Amino acid sequence: MCGIVGYIGKRPAKWLLIEGLKRLEYRGYDSSGIALLHDGNLHCVKAVGKISNLEGKLQNQNIDSTIGIAHTRWATHGEPNEVNAHPHLSNDGAIAVVHNGIIENYATLRKELEHEGFIFKSATDTEVIVHLISKFYKDGNEFDQAVRKSMERLEGTYGIVAICTHYPDKLIAAKNGSPLIVGVGDDEFIVASDASAIIEHTRQIIYLNDHELIILNNTEYRTKTIQDVHVHKTIEGIDWDIEMIEKSGFAHFMLKEIYEQPESIRNALRGHLDHEALTARLGGLQSVADRLRAANRIIITACGTSWHSGLIGEYMFEDLAQIPTEVEYASEFRYRNPILHPNDVVIAITQSGETADTLAALREAKRRGCLTLGICNVVGSTIARETDAGVYLHAGPEIGVASTKAFTSQLMVLALMALMTARMRSMSPVEGQKIIDAMNILPEQVEWIFHSDKIIKELAERFTYAQNFLYLGRGYNFPVALEGALKLKEISYIHAEGYPAAEMKHGPIALINENMPVVVIATQDSIYEKVISNIEEVKARKGYVIAIATEGDDRITHKADKVIFVPHTLPFLVPILSVIPLQLLAYHIAILKGCNVDQPRNLAKSVTVE
Ligand code: AGP
Repeated sequence: MCGIVGYIGKRPAKWLLIEGLKRLEYRGYDSSGIALLHDGNLHCVKAVGKISNLEGKLQNQNIDSTIGIAHTRWATHGEPNEVNAHPHLSNDGAIAVVHNGIIENYATLRKELEHEGFIFKSATDTEVIVHLISKFYKDGNEFDQAVRKSMERLEGTYGIVAICTHYPDKLIAAKNGSPLIVGVGDDEFIVASDASAIIEHTRQIIYLNDHELIILNNTEYRTKTIQDVHVHKTIEGIDWDIEMIEKSGFAHFMLKEIYEQPESIRNALRGHLDHEALTARLGGLQSVADRLRAANRIIITACGTSWHSGLIGEYMFEDLAQIPTEVEYASEFRYRNPILHPNDVVIAITQSGETADTLAALREAKRRGCLTLGICNVVGSTIARETDAGVYLHAGPEIGVASTKAFTSQLMVLALMALMTARMRSMSPVEGQKIIDAMNILPEQVEWIFHSDKIIKELAERFTYAQNFLYLGRGYNFPVALEGALKLKEISYIHAEGYPAAEMKHGPIALINENMPVVVIATQDSIYEKVISNIEEVKARKGYVIAIATEGDDRITHKADKVIFVPHTLPFLVPILSVIPLQLLAYHIAILKGCNVDQPRNLAKSVTVE
């Protein structure tokens, strides 16, 4: 998720664009850049790191320009460095482009354009856009037609802004699947990823729909589809404030990220399901696929929530691919002299890619000659760079300290890896088809769960001041119980424990009384009956049972005090659904307790120290 800003008007563009980027910094800031059009030339400056680094570079550059584009990057393809930072320029330096989104067919387009003599400098998918526009322009098309024809060739998502030295009075923007809006000022236009970069200048907005583009000069605009059909656009007013816009109208980043999960799961799936071979296609693992197939053992190492997703990954790899799998706390793994063999595969799971314990565990595995794989959200992070291969989550920046969308995206990537490995070993095409069908509908199934938010909020009101919670689950849902307990602990400061449901009778049952709310994940699977017995054991001791159950399960409504339903799916995909109500329960309780859910006390988003 990147931030883009474009300006055309009568005011100096440089600092106006930089201020706009600062408003968008929450969308990601591993690098940034600006291109200003002046005297028939494009002045392009880029910097790695926060936007203040770009600002510093511009201090002594007096570029008197009233048209420009700028970009703050959240890397998806290509490490965070100046070469990969946007804007990207055509080979002749005449055209500059900034882009937010993922171009799925960029490899094919790059090969085609290189064959035609275009020279690529970066490792980004974006660079194909500027060379496509240059190609169509050199073929004799007007600049706006060159942009339009380029958009027709793209597969994937984009929000782009482009300028050209031959058209010093034009700025063109186009959108498909990534946010992009246009602010209408007095003889000026500001194009941006969202209104946070616009509302200090104007509250008059033009909203672009997918597959539309807009051609701007100082005083007028034209909008059309990428099929060249004119589109009439009305100008609308907005009354959001900055804070609301950064959170897309949600009260907190954590809630926004919980509700982003249908989209983040779509991003994790995007381009990864092979409907012909009935398997998963993970480009980042192609070079090591044979070693993964031949693995005698998989060791997953991580911390915190990522360790919980590893526990679910363990069941997935054993269940689907029959590969013995172990999960290790990274902090334990790094110090206990683990027994490793060169044909072991070690997978490091980490949202930030910078967790010190996980990095140390990874380095220990590399020292022993194991194949090391990474499942990371932050592109170009240390762990992503040090593993032999890996898969990115593409979940976008996770700002809330309590991990939510990264967790479900980790589970999605682990499921794809298990499917890919299983189909290279003994899984049938028929089974592969079943799994792909189930994966395809997960985003909509997550959406369905949000209908229970009201019930969950009522439960939160009832248990706002509970002193303890117990979370129980079996099989794939045991790690979900751990994750639900961690979510509650870390943002509401209520003590909570996750336990394998069967273990309750070996001690924790002594805790049960009428003041102990017990969350039981009881989705219908092969061990459902056992979990029902555990619910009855709790009820016999006056515990209050909140059950997470499978949609349509009438029986459990007579067993538990409150039931929150999730749609039916395959057992190894259930955790992606069963965790959602637990995220919302923790969020609502923490809010009712007046806690700071986005920055809980004592916690950091990335623990880069031991
Ligand atoms: C989870 O909500 C916490 N923020 C924390 O446990 C986190 O999962 C852990 O620190 C690991 O972080 P990583 O995924 O960035 O390595």
